[in-house]
Amino acid sequence: MSNVVIVGVQWGDEGKGKIVDLLARQIDYVVRFQGGNNAGHTVIVDGKKAALHLVPSGILHEGKICLIGNGVVLDPVVFTQELDTLIAQGVDVSPSRLKISGKTHLIMPYHKALDQARENKLEKGQKIGTTGRGIGPCYEDKVARVGVRASDLTDPELLRAKIAAALKEKNVLFTALYGMEPLSVDAVFDEVMAAAPRVVPHLTDVSSDLQQAWKEGKSVLFEGAQGIHLDIDHGTYPFVTSSNTVSGNAAAGCGIGPNRLDRIIGILKAYTTRVGEGPFPTELNDATGDLLRANGGEFGVTTGRPRRCGWQDIVILRESARLNGLTDIALTKLDVLSGFDEIKICVAYDYQGRRMDYPPQESGALERVTPIYESVPGWKEDITACKTWDELPEAARAYVLRLEELSGVPVSMVSVGPDRNQTIFR
Ligand code: GDP
Ligand code: IMO
Ligand code: MG
Repeated sequence: MSNVVIVGVQWGDEGKGKIVDLLARQIDYVVRFQGGNNAGHTVIVDGKKAALHLVPSGILHEGKICLIGNGVVLDPVVFTQELDTLIAQGVDVSPSRLKISGKTHLIMPYHKALDQARENKLEKGQKIGTTGRGIGPCYEDKVARVGVRASDLTDPELLRAKIAAALKEKNVLFTALYGMEPLSVDAVFDEVMAAAPRVVPHLTDVSSDLQQAWKEGKSVLFEGAQGIHLDIDHGTYPFVTSSNTVSGNAAAGCGIGPNRLDRIIGILKAYTTRVGEGPFPTELNDATGDLLRANGGEFGVTTGRPRRCGWQDIVILRESARLNGLTDIALTKLDVLSGFDEIKICVAYDYQGRRMDYPPQESGALERVTPIYESVPGWKEDITACKTWDELPEAARAYVLRLEELSGVPVSMVSVGPDRNQTIFR
């Protein structure tokens, strides 16, 4: 297989973890290139569930090398906990197969404190609904050129100096603005250094490792986190995450040339979900939305929050196809739509009396669009045991073909259940 990028094309939780795990079978390296432990990627193998936040979803395949690129933000405490969980499940997480770029920025205790303090202070309507994991404040420090990088764990004096400099500024915010106790340099230093012996053995130069891998003819899968409409530039700003989630960032986020990216697979849920605040044109605040949530088990892997649910939105998908250069789509959770009499697809928006095939770009406009729906017939059969395209009910196939037609992107895989073997290749 060539080099593949996997991105979620909605607002996250499309089922990226499942598809990455599935494709990892034919791949040598799996790389995370952005985001942090705001991600929650579920992988189910033989009925056993693993929830991964930082470690790439290829880790459950023996012998595959997993890399965490410079574009990721890594919480060393969470990383250690995830290692322990995987070790308890008998997974090999030795430094020879799980490696971290020395340039990866570290989420520090003050980033988490700041993320949560800010969210708590914001009025309703202004809250982002972040995961509270310190993602935004960590990326802010990276861009402000005052961040702590994973390689700094090998230089305790430098680490202490960086913490002291950061707290000089952050403690003013904590005490004067948020009414909190200041954080002490020693406490932060000790907490982070306690994780250092578990992180440092994994440090590597991801960019060089990938170059070497290609010299040896290996294939690489780039595992996106979050979704395209949570992208810091192209998403529903300001209700977004703090990294670029688009496929192009796979190159910058691990130090390779973009000409290495051969295939860009968009992971598309058969309906739409969103966690946290922000516009969501096809959201269903009714019994149908509740049914999708219940049937799809739509509760966050990271925070446990109920996910907002709604119909498929082709306007959002068209934008994703353009922003990523999608070559194909893996459609997930088609089984969740079994049982509906009719299924709706949002094919365009009405915005100020105009029909729009792409989302309006003005700030706040997405809050004011009205979805234009078409209806297709549903199907009643349980499809979770279907192994081939032809076994799917005709109405299910027609739904998939209509999504292809409306988006202009071929659907190469259809997932009909959470397990590896519940996937139909076309
Ligand atoms: P990710 O963040 O994109 O990796 O997705 P999550 O793991 O947060 O959420 C997707 C959820 O759907 C997980 O619980 C998966 O086990 C589950 N899942 C994935 N594909 C399917 C599918 O085709 N059908 C069903 N019923 N569940 C699926
Ligand atoms: P995966 O990889 C769904 C959302 C949060 C919030 C916004 C900003 O599992 O698809 P942040 O903590 O990143 O600053 O929060 O982004 N969010 C996600 N929603 N899936 C995710 O990851 C998400 N990661 C962040 O809910 O609205
Ligand atoms: Mg998730």
